[in-house]
Amino acid sequence: MDSDCILILDFGGQQAQMMARKLRGERFFCEILPCETAAEDIAGRAPRGLLLAGGAGDPDDAGARHADAEIFALGIPVLAMGYGAREMALALGGQLLDTQISGRSAQISFSASPLFEGLGESERFFSRVDSMELPEGFCAIAYAGGGLVPAFACEEKRLYALQFYAENNDPDGLQILANFAGGICGCEAWWSMEAFVERAEANIRAEVGEGSALIAISGGVDSAVCAALLYRAIGDRLKCLYINTGLMRKGETALVTSTFRDALNMELICVDAGERILKRLEGVADPSAKREVVEQEVMRVFEDEARALGHVDCLCQGTIYPDVLSGATRRAPGFDKCIEPLRLLFKDEVRQLGEVLGMPKELTQRQPFPEPGLAVRIVGEVTREKLDMLREADAIFREEVAEAGLDRRVWQYFAVLTNIRTLGQRDGVVCQEYAVALRAVSSQDALSFNAYRMPYDLLERVTQRITREVVGVNRVLYDVTGRATSSIEWE
Ligand code: XMP
Repeated sequence: MDSDCILILDFGGQQAQMMARKLRGERFFCEILPCETAAEDIAGRAPRGLLLAGGAGDPDDAGARHADAEIFALGIPVLAMGYGAREMALALGGQLLDTQISGRSAQISFSASPLFEGLGESERFFSRVDSMELPEGFCAIAYAGGGLVPAFACEEKRLYALQFYAENNDPDGLQILANFAGGICGCEAWWSMEAFVERAEANIRAEVGEGSALIAISGGVDSAVCAALLYRAIGDRLKCLYINTGLMRKGETALVTSTFRDALNMELICVDAGERILKRLEGVADPSAKREVVEQEVMRVFEDEARALGHVDCLCQGTIYPDVLSGATRRAPGFDKCIEPLRLLFKDEVRQLGEVLGMPKELTQRQPFPEPGLAVRIVGEVTREKLDMLREADAIFREEVAEAGLDRRVWQYFAVLTNIRTLGQRDGVVCQEYAVALRAVSSQDALSFNAYRMPYDLLERVTQRITREVVGVNRVLYDVTGRATSSIEWE
């Protein structure tokens, strides 16, 4: 059915989200819930299967997180991974003995379980395999040398435990997840962006009814894609407000306005708040204070504009799944109803959705960008002159990276205006000018990253262009610092 769902019970860490993305990549719809969710609530959602993922330490440690043990008696198939495997063994009367191996690879062979359909012998990486006294009714379903039991199950009750995860680029891991969701749980692989659009449109129409809705877009991917989806569902009853903070990179406001007006044929109410925000930023040098000032001022502009628009029935926001999972959701006051059509989508799905909706890649593949924009890429006080210098330097860097064909290879790259000023010469006159720092990083999720090894000739070219074309900048630095001591942004 097109509502089949696997529920992932999250014991902490990144694994639950990784598994969710892999399942959705195989077109199986899933949602993540905290591991403590009551069995009754889980049963009420009628999932096709449960997946236990994440967690650190041991379930018998003091303060360890636990699932409601009743979940194993619901008759719903369970796949417990890593910590979850130990949790399930303990909850059903088994015992943990000792850790047999940690952090190494071993040859694994699988028994004829439906979980391992289509898999042969292979070598796998095990971050940890414990020896256990298995609960009654359970037996080993995978083997590795030295008496290791990397997987066990009670096939009759469809309870499965793996002492390993699906890793990155791991076809066997994906096959196991697909075997569980499709073969064992009988889930239909219905999830796709097209299926999402169809359901989301129907939901939006049902929620908004004959009323009107308002969304404020920031220039970022999430709110822009959300607005395009809403427009498709309710047309001109959507009022779309773009607040130009004056802190965008070169060309971004033009890209947003042309996408909406020309590519999507939508009416966009543009408000230029640059002057107002710059005034409030006067004398503010601390990055967190800058964030606060910009956030507050954008909220004020939004409230003023919303009031001027008259009555609107509901507010729409581009909240996405990672915001929901991290609890980082905010809501503008003054509206009875708030709808968040993207609240179950991961970032890569939001980008795909944008493309399905006909938005240009330039916008959907946009790099992460801090909400206070260039204000936090200027070290120290923000002024119009500094913003102009940074915008030009950043545009030159972007242009040259794209020209070298590296724009898809480097995860994020940008320029920062430092507050270092040194003596130099311009047109034969000795003067003090600023240093610009260039930042480029390789990453998948911003949690870990490495400075990108930019070709030296490219750095030279960018330096020559910036120092020649941007009056006020006489020095260019390249930041090669990694995560150990620094963040990606210069805040
Ligand atoms: P740091 O500097 O903490 O940044 O290593 C991690 C990633 O997050 C991006 N970033 C933001 N993204 N709103 C966003 O959507 C923000 O306010 C914000 N601040 C930082 C940053 O560019 C990097 O990719």
